[in-house]
Amino acid sequence: MEVVIKPTQDEACRLGARLIARIIRTRPAPVLGLATGSSPLPLYRELVRMHREEGLSFRHVTTFNLDEYVGLDPSHPGSFRSVMEEHLFRHIDLPRERAHLPDGMTTDVPGHCAEYERLIAAAGGIDLQLLGIGADGHLAFNEPGSSFRSRTRIKTLWTETRRANAAPFGGDPDKVPRHCLTMGLGTIMEARQCLLLGFGRSKAQAVRDMIEGPVTASCPASILQFHEHVIALIDEDAASLLQHRDYYREVYENKPSWQRWE
Ligand code: GLP
Repeated sequence: MEVVIKPTQDEACRLGARLIARIIRTRPAPVLGLATGSSPLPLYRELVRMHREEGLSFRHVTTFNLDEYVGLDPSHPGSFRSVMEEHLFRHIDLPRERAHLPDGMTTDVPGHCAEYERLIAAAGGIDLQLLGIGADGHLAFNEPGSSFRSRTRIKTLWTETRRANAAPFGGDPDKVPRHCLTMGLGTIMEARQCLLLGFGRSKAQAVRDMIEGPVTASCPASILQFHEHVIALIDEDAASLLQHRDYYREVYENKPSWQRWE
């Protein structure tokens, strides 16, 4: 895992956006895995800026979001479809028919989840999967205990996660849906590259467990230690509990020039 520590979330997200822009510019049919949550918002802002000011086009891009709430109308401001529209999709030239999210209103959950997996495979797999991390180490909505081999499926959200995601529901965790559809850890592990964003003190323990802890389903993000191409882009606060942070800094500062991606 490549660990990149930046002073602030904004700086980290600007760097992350450059990596994504490079993939968009160099692949004929780029496939991006997208995430919601507050962590990627400055990254989306930077992509929108690049689209407006630097001609970055999403015309040939296909996207797959990690997750969506069950039973929530896509027009609800808390749905991940709405969040993506507001922060990214409506500002760029991404063809909507290629912007995929799981359909939380489906009446056939197993069939729809299998179809989501099939669509990802038919698009050629995900080139880069953007990820946030929950304070309990969850990836997408794969809460602690999720199987490392899991695929897109329904999951039950526990109170802490509903509390953390309550803002668009008037701050009331009871209004946050109890179920969601989420890509599985097995799905995420098949992406050719993962870009994980983690910011703030509240993520420091989860970031430490993910990077330096044992690989365990108790910290779902720790499975990324088995992925061959992960960049963890974190700020100083999120890095504060890392035992080897000086090492990560030195490695990053001394990368051979041909290997630099920023
Ligand atoms: C939710 C999302 C995750 C996200 C996490 C952290 O649970 N399903 O994909 O990583 O929240 O969110 P934030 O970036 O707001 O801290």
